[in-house]
Amino acid sequence: MHRLFNNPDAAPEGWYWLLRSSEVRRGSVVAMELFGRELAVYRGAGGRVAALDAYCPHMGAHLAEGRVEGDELRCFFHAWRFDAGGRCTDMPALGGTPPFPVCTRSWTVAEKYGLVWLWNGDGAPGPLPFVPELGEGEVASMLANRFRKPCHPHVMLINAIDEHHFNSVHALPVKLHMATREVSGQRIEFSNTTHVPPGSWLARFYRGPLTYSMCYWNAATGTVTLGPDLLHFYIMFALRPDGRGGTDGQTVLIARRRRGLLGAIANAALLALTRVVGAYFAKGDTRVFRSIRFQLRTPTEADHAIIDFIDHTERQPAVIVSQPGVILSRADGEGSPADGTRRVQAKGILRFAQDDTHGDGA
Ligand code: FES
Ligand SMILES: [Fe+2]
Repeated sequence: MHRLFNNPDAAPEGWYWLLRSSEVRRGSVVAMELFGRELAVYRGAGGRVAALDAYCPHMGAHLAEGRVEGDELRCFFHAWRFDAGGRCTDMPALGGTPPFPVCTRSWTVAEKYGLVWLWNGDGAPGPLPFVPELGEGEVASMLANRFRKPCHPHVMLINAIDEHHFNSVHALPVKLHMATREVSGQRIEFSNTTHVPPGSWLARFYRGPLTYSMCYWNAATGTVTLGPDLLHFYIMFALRPDGRGGTDGQTVLIARRRRGLLGAIANAALLALTRVVGAYFAKGDTRVFRSIRFQLRTPTEADHAIIDFIDHTERQPAVIVSQPGVILSRADGEGSPADGTRRVQAKGILRFAQDDTHGDGA
């Protein structure tokens, strides 16, 4: 078992797609689970999305059962209210402002490509995944299929740099050689260096360099840049572990942003074409994802990129999933639900006891 690669009990720190932006409408809250940790994800009146640990630090009610008020979330049970940073801002039973600090853990979230992303660690968030050739700025994008596969996200991701399977499974008439470039601790790129061989069926259409490059972000999201010289297609595969040893994935089609009406028409056409390219990309791999038990026991030269990916993944900061329903991240302690609950019990129970002179405890 590797420290991180293909390990369901740990994950690299980084950005993980959480849900589609359209799934959490303004003023609504939804329950989510990521790495076995339950979350309440809501969109405030101002339009900003926030993600809080789901179980209320008072008595453990699920905050996704509550309601959004302005930019805050109110627990339905005893009506404590929490802001987007997880701080309790109202305790009606104690007359309003909490007399002592109480918080539930909040998570850093961001939105791009029509998706909500969550940073799963305690380190400073890095940039959201992007296509290197297009940069970090705005792009035209469209959500394509959402999928579930019964294998770990890492096993899915390495498929795109498994050189020989393009010939044996996808019948590509070109031998690929992926050159590795580690851009940072959490970003690695692989680019094909070969040309279309003369005499192949593909050479009838195109003889120039064949661009095919992958960029991986914290071993969870991969972007593909693909095509002949004059026209590149961009596809993003956003993956996350599904908590049962499999993968929850979302495909995003991406194009360079073009302005004006003509630009919008060109973008729509390009994204439709990108969908066709993406379907080709995915075709043929279902069979292996369904039944593989990954183990690189006998690596060959054609597996060099996979070995680089594993090595890169293994060196990343880890977030440990200790058991179902509990996740221990590097700084889990201060501000965590357990800590918050202790504080409430230590200081709060006396206050309730003083007030509760006629209650039946229910
Ligand atoms: S359980 Fe949430 S306010 Fe009591
Ligand atoms: Fe494939």
